[in-house]
Amino acid sequence: PQAASASATFRSVSHHSSFGIAFDIDGVILHGANPIGNSRRALRKFYNHSGSLKIPFLFLTNGGGIPESRRALELSDILGVKILPSQVMQGHSPFSTLLKRYENEFIVATGKGEPAVVMSEYGFKRVVSLDEYASHFSNIDPVAQYKRWTTIQESNCSKHSEKIIHHDYSKNVKAVFVVSDPVDWGRDIQVICDILTSGGIPGEKNWHQPPLYFAADDLQYQAAFSSKRLGMGAFRIALESVFNRIHDKPLEFTCFGKPNPFVFRKAETILAHLLQTCCLGDVVTGNGDSSSPSFRTLYMVGDNPLVDIKGAQQAGYPWFSILTRTGVFRQRENHTKYPADLVVDTVEDAVAFILKRED
Ligand code: G3P
Ligand code: MG
Repeated sequence: PQAASASATFRSVSHHSSFGIAFDIDGVILHGANPIGNSRRALRKFYNHSGSLKIPFLFLTNGGGIPESRRALELSDILGVKILPSQVMQGHSPFSTLLKRYENEFIVATGKGEPAVVMSEYGFKRVVSLDEYASHFSNIDPVAQYKRWTTIQESNCSKHSEKIIHHDYSKNVKAVFVVSDPVDWGRDIQVICDILTSGGIPGEKNWHQPPLYFAADDLQYQAAFSSKRLGMGAFRIALESVFNRIHDKPLEFTCFGKPNPFVFRKAETILAHLLQTCCLGDVVTGNGDSSSPSFRTLYMVGDNPLVDIKGAQQAGYPWFSILTRTGVFRQRENHTKYPADLVVDTVEDAVAFILKRED
């Protein structure tokens, strides 16, 4: 009887382990900070009555600017379900893979939110925000006096403020990280060019360009405004165009985020872990099966054909792409260059399709 019940459990495990879902955020789940349509109701379907997760899903966004743990709290608040930090993969999340190389190196991070806090939470020990870095070079931004806005300095916030770090600004910057969408494009282009054309010390002359990393390369994305907004990819083009005009060697850079296949592979690993730890709990370990479950289908629900759909296509089996009409893509017909496996109006339609297909 024991064997019979064990095999019955196993059948149920293998049935439940057959699928997982990755949701894009901007243009699928949210417009700015506002839930799109019934995205809140759609996500509730993945939880049981007691509020625990029954279907593995995560957010796979190219956005960012705050640590994953904080983003999870923010999303839980907006969406009314409990989102775990492990369910949040942001554009900059893979920067943590560069820790070995830069852990003790002097690096500069820029973008909206708290780019240096993000990096220091990944373990980088000598990171400074571009805001702070620029403030140590008088007159580096010749139009600074005309900028009447005030910014919330990172020194006011969270864990980072508790650590008093004294950086030596006469030392070379070893790398620049664009963590999230830059706020002051003009100042950032100027200062990044200063760092990169000088070998890491503004004002010096050195032809060796320090590495430059972008969290993503989205040309446009859907925020709260009715039409698409310029994203990090647009900033990259602007910076690259200027840099290539003032420097002899073309700009060298690396972009992380979607549509890179390693992002989708990482998402698969996280979904498998979520399935084991949250959705199945002791059932799997009780069977002595500690290997990662394999998925029959992984769904990517996105709004940007060039990023979300292209990424899922490149990742290949078992990814299945679903394109919504609530963001960057709004057409009736499927995208010609990167056609999705399915086009729907909203994320709620996508969830209804998935649940019916997997029933
Ligand atoms: O800045 C955010 C944007 O580039 C994309 O976000 O959630 O659509 O991947 P998302
Ligand atoms: Mg999007």
